[in-house]
Amino acid sequence: MKGNLLYEGKAKQVFEVEGNESLLVLSYKNDATAFNGQKKANFIGKGRYNNLISAKVFEYLRDKGIASHFEKSLSDTEQLVQRTTIIPIEVVVRNMAAGSITKRLGIKEKTVFNPPLVEFFYKKDELGDPIINDQHALILSDATVEELEEIKVTALKVNELLQEFFLGINLTLADFKLEFGRNIDGSIILSDEVSPDTCRLWDRDTGKKMDKDVFREDLGDLLQVYDNILQRLEAVK
Ligand code: TMP
Ligand code: ASP
Repeated sequence: MKGNLLYEGKAKQVFEVEGNESLLVLSYKNDATAFNGQKKANFIGKGRYNNLISAKVFEYLRDKGIASHFEKSLSDTEQLVQRTTIIPIEVVVRNMAAGSITKRLGIKEKTVFNPPLVEFFYKKDELGDPIINDQHALILSDATVEELEEIKVTALKVNELLQEFFLGINLTLADFKLEFGRNIDGSIILSDEVSPDTCRLWDRDTGKKMDKDVFREDLGDLLQVYDNILQRLEAVK
């Protein structure tokens, strides 16, 4: 059923599905990249963790009424998704300051944002994914004013849901990044992945970072951390 390779990104390969134009297969790679691809490494087994964790997140969100591209898991490293054209805006939601905002605005790490902060970044590697405002987003994408508003509302709803989801496995959701895409019907739905590569997750007892910052900041064994998250998720229910 898996057809031709359509696209290869930093973390995933995207394949067509033979005989069905509205579906794609995502294959998660073992590569980890950070700082716009300047730091790179390969971790055997990482793709499996991203795939399985992202699938659990999308299944949970589906149960809570959030439409996404996720259809079903196919294997340890592959999932079937709806074909979407990605809107080139990375939507970041922040509950607590970390990462780029601490440097850009001099805000101390762990400063609480209440209400949560939504930021848009232009998804363009050549430009280093610069931060943009709503008017730039209108110029740089085909989304309408109403659709951009809907994207923000959905991102904040996903934030509420994911905070609860990760609280259930004793993790604080400091921030995360979402991507949205337009499916064959023209609807904008949640797309890409939601995993410890795209979220900042802090253990509620120890305060330890349990996400890709372990790789970005050389804090320890990334695979062990991702394995721990998957184990916690599998222990729920
Ligand atoms: P930032 O602090 O680097 O702006 O990142 C905010 C959140 O977005 C963090 O959870 C990591 C995630 N993120 C991605 O998933 N992909 C990216 O390309 C970037 C820059 C951030
Ligand atoms: N994932 C992004 C990159 O590889 C940036 C990051 O997560 O630090 O460019």
